[in-house]
Amino acid sequence: MQPQRFEPATNQSFVGMDPRSAAYWQQRWLEGAIGWDLGEVSPPLREFFDQIAPTTLRVLIPGAGNGYEAEYLWKKGFQNVWVLDFAEAALESFKRRVPDFPHAQVICEDFFNHHGQYDLIIEHTFFCALPPSFRHDYAKHMNRLLVPGGRLVGLLFNDHLCGASGPPFGGTDQEYIELFHPYFETVCMQPALNSAAPRQGRELFFILRKPAT
Ligand SMILES: C[S@@+](CC[C@H](N)C(=O)[O-])C[C@H]1O[C@@H](n2cnc3c(N)ncnc32)[C@H](O)[C@@H]1O
Repeated sequence: MQPQRFEPATNQSFVGMDPRSAAYWQQRWLEGAIGWDLGEVSPPLREFFDQIAPTTLRVLIPGAGNGYEAEYLWKKGFQNVWVLDFAEAALESFKRRVPDFPHAQVICEDFFNHHGQYDLIIEHTFFCALPPSFRHDYAKHMNRLLVPGGRLVGLLFNDHLCGASGPPFGGTDQEYIELFHPYFETVCMQPALNSAAPRQGRELFFILRKPAT
């Protein structure tokens, strides 16, 4: 399955379930229907992580799935990394793969109910998993979770994709800039140059900064 297509075969039992629900995603994890999973940290994010400091930054990875970004940061010495997903099976998979990662920093919760304060939040195929009607709440809640001057950094599809009826849901750079404008300064929103092979030419790397005041 190509990672950009999350569409299931019709004989899978989550077909017909509500794609906004934890139950839907849990079922996908249980059935191994995780076509988005790269099996490693995404190259543009790895490059970004190799340039940031200090390792004391408080980092949240929402909709983390297998949490390759968290694993990479953790192994580089970033101690204050939190992994969040509402599918228990995803988090169990992460804990099995990274057994020394503190369990207290693995949160099973709906992102929209989560409270906290972070310096950096990482976006990787979480936004596109949410129905477009959630986007304003996503932008607003990301703003709430960041300290003034904090950054939301990640990748977005520069493509409308196939998701009329289910995830993934894409978009364009102009749509994203407009969406985030009330909450963030756009530091960068540009085509990613080193995407994983199946996503080449269809991803934007972005850095959004919460205004300092
Ligand atoms: C497409 S997967 C991406 C996983 C991972 N970020 C990656 O790139 O491999 C989306 C993930 O977001 C999680 N998710 C969807 N809606 C969520 C919500 N409201 N709160 C927390 N997690 C959510 C799903 O359980 C799923 O693991």
